[in-house]
Amino acid sequence: MAIIAFIGNKGGVGKTTLAINIATMLNQTSPTSLLDADPQGSTLHWADMIDSESMPAIFDATGGVAKAVKKHRDQTEHLLIDCPPQLHSEQTQAALKLCDIAVIPVLPSPLDIWATVAVSEAIEAARKKNPDLKALLVINQLEPRTKLSRLVLDAISELDTPVASTTLNRRVVYRSSILEGKSVSQMGRPGEIAANEINQLIAEVLDT
Ligand SMILES: Nc1ncnc2c1ncn2[C@@H]1O[C@H](COP(=O)(O)OP(=O)(O)OP(=O)(O)O)[C@@H](O)[C@H]1O
Ligand SMILES: [Mg+2]
Repeated sequence: MAIIAFIGNKGGVGKTTLAINIATMLNQTSPTSLLDADPQGSTLHWADMIDSESMPAIFDATGGVAKAVKKHRDQTEHLLIDCPPQLHSEQTQAALKLCDIAVIPVLPSPLDIWATVAVSEAIEAARKKNPDLKALLVINQLEPRTKLSRLVLDAISELDTPVASTTLNRRVVYRSSILEGKSVSQMGRPGEIAANEINQLIAEVLDT
């Protein structure tokens, strides 16, 4: 049983996108639940659009992350938590206290990398109470082969937190799948490359 929290200090970096796609793909092989701990309720909105049965169970955890984890952890193999974009929110702090792995999406831009320094510090601080906490930065919305991307990849490797060697490219299917209540892995041919990225990332996250 692994608890994986998607955390960060900025909005719009891909926490919900990663949580939804990783949860759906994990659920294809073992029971997976996804807790929406963000008062914006993005994951719950997506859950409203689902019309397939082979989906992860999704629950509202905004009222208390620890309580929701306690309630759902025994019914599932993987428990994922989609957190709000504030490190110091009650929900993110609670998730950091009890998760096994913190996944931190980062956009390939200097502003986002600077903001990630605070996330690395928060992980260090959380380890005082949760010493086995593991963490992995994931570069999302990469536009490969640009000079900026190369510079950013170098800069991010200077941070204290390890960086996943799998990067997620910027792809329309990550957006269009949400509208259809699906994950990229359920989008057929147009989602194939994205689904491969997610699959590779899952292997890395579980091996962290
Ligand atoms: N790899 C990608 N390629 C293209 N679009 C993406 C990708 N990842 C995320 N997006 C889009 O970027 C936007 C922000 O993503 P998302 O909502 O997952 O971020 P978030 O970190 O959960 O934001 P918030 O902090 O506001 O909850 C969404 O419109 C999403 O569809
Ligand atoms: Mg979100």
